[in-house]
Amino acid sequence: MSTSSDAQQQMYEAYASSYAIFLKNWQTQRQAALDMLEKHFKSNLSKQTEVSSVLSVGPGPGEFDKQLIHFLQQYIPKGQTLKYVTVEPNHVHRQIFEATMQSAGLGEVDLEMHPVTIEDFHTLEQFDCIHYTHSLYHMPGFERQLILESLNMLKDRGVLVITLDTEEAVIFKLIAQYAEVVGNQEYWQGDSYIEAKKLRKIIDDIGLSYKFESYPEYLDVSACFEQNSSEGRVLMDFLFQANLRNASWELNQRLLSLVDEVAFEQNGRKMLYLPTGTFLIPKQ
Ligand SMILES: C[S@@+](CC[C@H](N)C(=O)[O-])C[C@H]1O[C@@H](n2cnc3c(N)ncnc32)[C@H](O)[C@@H]1O
Repeated sequence: MSTSSDAQQQMYEAYASSYAIFLKNWQTQRQAALDMLEKHFKSNLSKQTEVSSVLSVGPGPGEFDKQLIHFLQQYIPKGQTLKYVTVEPNHVHRQIFEATMQSAGLGEVDLEMHPVTIEDFHTLEQFDCIHYTHSLYHMPGFERQLILESLNMLKDRGVLVITLDTEEAVIFKLIAQYAEVVGNQEYWQGDSYIEAKKLRKIIDDIGLSYKFESYPEYLDVSACFEQNSSEGRVLMDFLFQANLRNASWELNQRLLSLVDEVAFEQNGRKMLYLPTGTFLIPKQ
């Protein structure tokens, strides 16, 4: 007999395997967020920047975290170990994250993994850096509260970094078009996805000062156009945030033509434009 936690585990497993395919085809610019952090740390020249504790919310397989930890090595106070705390509810992602860290040759890092959602995470600890890297989409309605709580969890000169797609990312157009195609009653998420413009409004409403930069990222969707490609099917599910396994041939063709309309060709590949933005919000 299946319990709801079995169902949840299966959802996590399905998400993790489709995210792996998404990652494989995603041309990211992870360095951009690190460059912003570096600029921020260097602008604090009068005071020496030290980073000894980080909170990563929704690290997934840990690709960005690996780069961040490498980058932060220069800011760890002499003789101390970096404390790296993660909040990741997906058990598959936690396993992959551990493997990523083990194979990354990061030196001494004190890893602490919490198998919960950020909404259920409580700590009295304070951090030098908290980041949500492409994870805020999964906490709809909680963004304002999470920003305020994160700022409370920062040490005096700490910084909150939020990276997410901008409103120009064509995935939002596809999700909205899908809602129109199948009817909003069946599928009502199109409007609820957070992107950089909506997040900026929340941050402005709170009255915070921050830096924002956007930069291009792309997704190779060529596999969607290959017949019987399992990778293509997974990408289609991701693009429309739907399970299209049982969708009719006609619906799949219609959706494929929507992808084709927003795709462009580069070196014989079909690409989607998914620009990303990073907000850097210092403790205030
Ligand atoms: C799109 S992935 C991003 C992973 C990684 N940060 C990256 O940039 O590749 C989103 C991650 O957020 C996690 N997540 C989803 N809901 C969450 C929540 N409520 N609290 C914390 N993490 C969550 C997911 O399990 C997943 O690992």
